Amino acid sequence: MTFKTNITEMFGIKHPIANAAMGPFRTTELAVAVAEAGGLGMISHANQSMDGREDSALVALKKNLDYVVEHTEGIFGFNIRTSRLTPDCEELISGAAKHIMANPKLREQCLYALTSAGSASRMPQNKDFQKLRENSQIKHFHVAPALWLADKCVSAGCDGLVVTGFEGGGHQSYEKVGGLVLLQQVQQKHPDIPKIACGGFATGYGLAAALSIGAGGVAMGSRFIASKDSEFHENYKNVVPPAKAQDTIVRTGALGTIRLWKNKYAMKKGLVKTKEEKIAEEKIKDDHRAEISKEELAEELREDSIAAFAAYEGDMQNGSVLLGQSIGIINQIESVTDIIETVIKDAEKALKTAISYVI
Ligand SMILES: Cc1cc2nc3c(=O)[nH]c(=O)nc-3n(C[C@H](O)[C@H](O)[C@H](O)COP(=O)(O)O)c2cc1C
Repeated sequence: MTFKTNITEMFGIKHPIANAAMGPFRTTELAVAVAEAGGLGMISHANQSMDGREDSALVALKKNLDYVVEHTEGIFGFNIRTSRLTPDCEELISGAAKHIMANPKLREQCLYALTSAGSASRMPQNKDFQKLRENSQIKHFHVAPALWLADKCVSAGCDGLVVTGFEGGGHQSYEKVGGLVLLQQVQQKHPDIPKIACGGFATGYGLAAALSIGAGGVAMGSRFIASKDSEFHENYKNVVPPAKAQDTIVRTGALGTIRLWKNKYAMKKGLVKTKEEKIAEEKIKDDHRAEISKEELAEELREDSIAAFAAYEGDMQNGSVLLGQSIGIINQIESVTDIIETVIKDAEKALKTAISYVI
């Protein structure tokens, strides 16, 4: 069983399913597994490459691109966060574009460039990326967690959007609009731009719903964390089943609103950041946390990274455990292949049931 959507057609993939970007964690093995299973693999914006060394983000990205292309014939992409907290953003975009240009196999298979958490224009305005775009089939998508951000992505000339609702794990819009409404808002205003729905997807029901309201596919984060193939620590995976949907909480991270699993770290973070959360909600206009000084943000980012890596190394109480509400509908740790097969089979069943209502 396969689906034919604008996303499967655009990328030449079998299944309309991607793994979500999950930096600063490595998702390189996960990207291989998703691409091998016929989905769209995603290399996250990380500072660690496959050999476990702390490299610069660019060195890590190049190594991870090389690793993935050597281990799959499938299709994949990479994420770059374009926030002002990524000072090396231009270097990353140029470096990735040049690296892909130089390797014909990468040019064939690395077709998905996803930016997020900042400006949608930085990648399309970059000269090296423009050259890559002219000489390959690569498509640029940007994460749109609010309607006004979707407008900006369309103006920036994105090829598609990752429409991410508030139920998702990790960084989310301070506007707190759930994915069901957001996707319909974006579909009403921008019906023709290809969309990947994200945030809260983990089952075939979810995929069926997303396809019915305008998306051509889904990206799943928490669902793939709890897979046999992801690089996440066993302790992190084991949080997912048996967690409940209400076991996450929204806090303020350096990049803005962030959804975390409710542990000691998350509860403490909320108490010390209350004032900033308020400022963030009231004043942010364009860039996340635009009113906070660069130095303060850099310090927060450093703290966030330390907490993220504590979680990555298995400290489930003092680490920052980014997860979405979808943890409440994930019941088993399975292989990526089994997850994708089940999601596709169940989506088919759900859509057939729905169409049987039409007489
Ligand atoms: C551990 C983790 C790290 C994340 N890091 C990033 C990131 O670096 N860039 C990004 O655009 N989104 C990031 N996100 C958000 C995801 O791309 C996606 O929106 C989210 O996982 C969707 O919700 P779900 O977990 O219910 O599938 C992260 C999410 C998680 C769970």
